[in-house]
Amino acid sequence: QKLQMNLDQIEKGGYDHFMLKEIYEQPSAIEDTYRGRMLVKEGIIKMSGIDDHLERFLNANRIIIVACGTSWHAGLVAEYIFEDLARIPVEVEYASEFRYRNPVIGKGDVLIAISQSGETADTMAAIKLAKENGAFVFGVCNVVGSSISRITDAGAYTHAGPEIGVASTKAFTTQITLLTLIALKLGKEKGSISKSDFYLYLQEMDLIPSKIEKALEANKHIIEVANHYKNSRNCLYLGRGYNFPVALEGALKLKEISYIHAEGYPAAEMKHGPIALIDEEMPVVVIATRKGHYEKVVSNVQEIKSRKGKIIAIVTEGDEQVSKVADHVIEVPDTFEALTPLLTTIPLQLLSYHIAVMLGKNVDQPRNLAKSVTVE
Ligand code: G6P
Repeated sequence: QKLQMNLDQIEKGGYDHFMLKEIYEQPSAIEDTYRGRMLVKEGIIKMSGIDDHLERFLNANRIIIVACGTSWHAGLVAEYIFEDLARIPVEVEYASEFRYRNPVIGKGDVLIAISQSGETADTMAAIKLAKENGAFVFGVCNVVGSSISRITDAGAYTHAGPEIGVASTKAFTTQITLLTLIALKLGKEKGSISKSDFYLYLQEMDLIPSKIEKALEANKHIIEVANHYKNSRNCLYLGRGYNFPVALEGALKLKEISYIHAEGYPAAEMKHGPIALIDEEMPVVVIATRKGHYEKVVSNVQEIKSRKGKIIAIVTEGDEQVSKVADHVIEVPDTFEALTPLLTTIPLQLLSYHIAVMLGKNVDQPRNLAKSVTVE
């Protein structure tokens, strides 16, 4: 038994839980995702899965992204990036809905299936349906040799390494990294982003691992914030633009492991419903980075404040405006707007982790959840 305990500790690399280990692995996991693919000095992105099928992507009528859970959130971030940088229309859908709704899909469509495990039953079924209708199917998986990676026409692995914690962390940020590389490559090929912007993106992407390290330094402060809100019964997460999917993911993380009811919303939709819930009992996590509709988010923050909601703001280093109004402020380094999800996700992972630990929950194996869902 003693030996087993030691093995367990070794596997967790000195961390209390796999989830925490995997949160801290993100800088190196992201490097592993872009290593050998993003050549900063040469100014190129090389990915055989894309290079070999470039015309399919460049001539695509649209890209349809299907996924479940956290991978679906990565798909939503990718929608913003693909439309913004590569100017290709994108639809993102839950695989479970796509497979049963008789979707219009044909030869000119490219379907991207995102799946950490590569085994999710609904995602598999969506792929089969798309293939039957002549679409080109590209897989973004983490597990090498998984079922999805075998049934797709082409694909790319995230190379995040094994993810053991049921709540997905490094799989999410590496999926976003990979999809960003694809969007950048297509944007460059299509001419929808300039060569000089392309180079700037490569340089900035190369800085992301060290910026995540910086974001992780907020851990101690996040423990204090977690302590403050651990007994909340509800929590609202708000974000706009690129950070709207991050708000959804932040809420999902809290639900999954702490069993606190949480909802993610686009900040502007607050006035169409969730604002009715705000009172002094309601913590609201607002992603308010300087790039990306900052002024609009600031006015959302003021609306929450005037209804006595408690505000936990994720802001850009050195922020003053939101910091004046918010009850708690967690800083992340500055980056390009399209890359902010890679940083703003970090404190939200840590926040839910610490709350779950404080509540004595089984962080790595939350009740009723499975790491991969191979049945309907
Ligand atoms: C389960 C897991 C989630 C995951 C989802 C999709 O619900 O608990 O963490 O996001 O499945 O899994 P996939 O392996 O397809 O990304």
